[in-house]
Amino acid sequence: MKLRLLLISLIGCVSLGLLISYTAAQAPKPRLGRLTAEEEAALVPGLAALFTSGEKTDLRITRLAALHVPKGTPPSVFLPSGPFRVQWTGYLKTTEKGEYLIRAEGEGKVVVRFGQAPPLEWKLVKEQSGEPKSIELVKGYNPLTIEYFSLESGAGTLRLWWSSENFVEEPLPPDALFTRGDTESVQQSNLLRSGRQLFAERGCIHCHALPEEERKGSGPSMPELSRTAPNLIQSQERFEPDYLAAWILNPQSLRSHATMPQVLKGTAEEKEQQAVDLAAFLASEATARKESPLNEKLVAEGEKLFETLGCIGCHHTLERTEKDPHDRLSLRSVWLKFRPNQLAEFLKDPHKHYSWSRMPHFKLDATKEIPPLVAYLSKNTDETLPKFKQKGNAERGKKLFAETGCAHCHQLEKKETKPSLLGKPSKMDQGCLSEHPQETKAPDFQFSPAERTALQTFLKRGTESLKQDLPAEFVARQMQSLQCTGCHRRDGKQGKLYKILEEENLTGVPPQPMPTLTWTGEKLRPEWTRKLLEGNIDHKARPWLKSRMPAFPQRAEWLALGLSHEHGFAADENPKPVVNEEQKKIGAKLMEQNGGLYCYQCHAVGDKPAVQPFEAPGINLLDASLRLRYSYYPRWMLDPTRVDPSTKMPRFAPDLKTTTLKEIYDGNARQQFDALWMHIESLSQKKDASP
Ligand code: HEC
Ligand code: HEC
Ligand code: HEC
Ligand code: HEC
Ligand code: HEC
Repeated sequence: MKLRLLLISLIGCVSLGLLISYTAAQAPKPRLGRLTAEEEAALVPGLAALFTSGEKTDLRITRLAALHVPKGTPPSVFLPSGPFRVQWTGYLKTTEKGEYLIRAEGEGKVVVRFGQAPPLEWKLVKEQSGEPKSIELVKGYNPLTIEYFSLESGAGTLRLWWSSENFVEEPLPPDALFTRGDTESVQQSNLLRSGRQLFAERGCIHCHALPEEERKGSGPSMPELSRTAPNLIQSQERFEPDYLAAWILNPQSLRSHATMPQVLKGTAEEKEQQAVDLAAFLASEATARKESPLNEKLVAEGEKLFETLGCIGCHHTLERTEKDPHDRLSLRSVWLKFRPNQLAEFLKDPHKHYSWSRMPHFKLDATKEIPPLVAYLSKNTDETLPKFKQKGNAERGKKLFAETGCAHCHQLEKKETKPSLLGKPSKMDQGCLSEHPQETKAPDFQFSPAERTALQTFLKRGTESLKQDLPAEFVARQMQSLQCTGCHRRDGKQGKLYKILEEENLTGVPPQPMPTLTWTGEKLRPEWTRKLLEGNIDHKARPWLKSRMPAFPQRAEWLALGLSHEHGFAADENPKPVVNEEQKKIGAKLMEQNGGLYCYQCHAVGDKPAVQPFEAPGINLLDASLRLRYSYYPRWMLDPTRVDPSTKMPRFAPDLKTTTLKEIYDGNARQQFDALWMHIESLSQKKDASP
């Protein structure tokens, strides 16, 4: 009896299962290349990359199907270094159905699969180009899987290129790659990584020591771990005490993006007393400000600079009650923070007391730019800060500074003091990670529930990963944290600055397009990028731009390296054609108007200015040879608008193969461009040789 029942119910289950799978099969399947609305809504840019090293796996989203992992570097921050595998999954989105060529380059082995089509496979040898292989792709989303195997040594390099009848070979572009962002593994990876970043950036290790066994890793540690808070060595000369008291009490009330926690404990009145004591210790007397009448002309000039330089991409000066739709940092109370002249001093060198500040260095002109900016900021200020009745006591402040934990993060004397208080954070819902930190002895970082979950997820996984890092992941974190896309375009998205200027636009002229960072890692030679980020290029490549590339010297080296690795290039990888004297001469001729392609029309070369740059000034070609990797150059020359849709550089080879100039190399575009390159390179060699 029992058996029969069981059998019947079993049969029932099976047939129900069949019914379900039958109906699933019957549900209208979108045609090839299409996704359901729900699937499409879940897509995020990039590919999901599952890294495997030994027994361990780690997943992260990468912008590109490319990597460069030097020997001894972990392939992903949560993995040990050593031989590894990667499996990328997602979609390649095309605008046209048809035949495409795919080609791989690098070291190791790679297998590429599009949907059900037979796999494409390459054994990669350094400095040898893989054979292009043909594949039929549908219009729309083509399911893509890439399996990559590193060398035994743990080194790995991969770059994947594609081309078709209609476009020249380029890396699989980041704005055509998509993957599902809603899977559990992707979300877990995002949580882990944001927890790791918060842990490093918020200075947890200034107060919590990590256990010995978690302090080893391969490669250099996470650079953010060396981030220190501003040193307060000259705070007496720099700051106003009223501002400091308000800041210490609640940094987030003065600046939405403040990372300093609230550390004071007690009743509201006790906390205020402690705050004014600390302020008295750090800044003694307030300055009696003489209100000098504002120079309106200077203020207007400052407002203009604030826009054109790009401050407005990261800052606003809205009233405290207004909400900023762009989530920028307020400078509303900055005038009240600094003693007279000290705001100007700050703008002259924002990294002097805080080398890890996210505020970039603009090398502002001390007479033409700083005074108007200061005037503008002084006009757009809150008239008042919270007033405290209590009088501060510097002696008590000094004691509090040591006791409440300020000294763990801030340096006060010339010598570095790094006391370590506590062990590794363990009770995950207490202290700093409690929902009500103000009721504990721990500082209050004002973490959102999402940030708390991220930190808890990270701490559960273990903190070993802090002691190793890879430049490509550093770039992903810092581009976001430093808001590079506040100014720059990237992956088909307009920069914030452009959108803000467009919105504010009163003159009717569209804002100037800013350079794109989509291809930087492949385009620019890392030494140039590093120098640019350090602020060590003494002129602008694009003098016509009103905005300016500011410096991020602390992070320059790793950013330059990481951008390059992200695109699958080693820092010194720059294969070039063999120089040929005959070609150099032809190149010189091609630059000219008569019998050439007239590059001089838009491009200056050294001291020789462009002839008619008007609408479309180009970059000084002397710079071009110092800036660019040769591998990027032909792709740019053959189809500049494909590389950068907003560029005004014309296409000299309308059919992508020949130019209109048939007398030289029968019009062969590649040969003509190579000749031009050799000429351009010889220019910079001459320059290097001159004193
Ligand atoms: C200025 C010093 C300081 C910093 C910085 C700091 N903490 Fe704490 N943390 C404390 C103190 C003090 C306590 C409370 C210890 C007690 O209750 O006795 C604490 C407690 C904790 C606790 C609960 C108790 C435990 O040890 O398990 C966790 C979890 C924690 N902190 C996590 C963090 C994390 C994560 C960060 C970085 C975002 C951080 N802390 C940064 C000082 C600090
Ligand atoms: C890429 C974003 C970015 C740009 C562009 C930028 N800043 Fe900043 N700035 C910041 C950040 C972030 C901070 C806060 C420093 C920190 O905590 O790391 C800051 C801080 C400041 C401060 C000090 C605020 C304080 O409370 O101490 C001033 C003043 C300032 N910026 C002025 C300017 C001016 C003027 C410009 C244009 C010339 C400018 N900034 C451009 C990101 C930017
Ligand atoms: C977890 C580390 C941490 C602790 C603890 C901490 N601060 Fe800070 N503090 C920072 C950081 C980081 C900044 C830079 C602004 C930001 O990102 O919020 C800052 C900024 C400041 C500034 C402004 C300095 C400038 O150059 O603009 C003052 C003053 C200051 N803190 C005082 C204090 C005092 C007093 C205490 C103790 C009551 C304290 N801090 C505790 C991390 C900390
Ligand atoms: C205030 C706006 C602003 C911010 C913020 C900014 N940049 Fe720039 N950047 C520029 C301008 C303007 C140029 C063009 C400089 C030139 O060519 O003269 C530029 C040029 C560059 C270039 C050269 C691009 C090329 O193809 O020639 C790179 C690389 C670059 N920036 C990287 C970064 C990175 C990385 C960050 C963030 C850490 C960043 N930028 C933040 C304004 C900005
Ligand atoms: C009608 C104007 C125009 C002409 C003619 C022109 N270019 Fe350009 N060129 C541009 C513009 C605009 C850019 C992009 C500048 C930017 O990125 O902001 C550019 C960029 C370049 C770059 C990239 C430079 C860099 O450092 O990023 C190279 C290389 C270049 N051009 C070579 C040439 C050569 C060689 C010729 C002659 C065959 C030529 N161009 C003719 C306008 C022109």
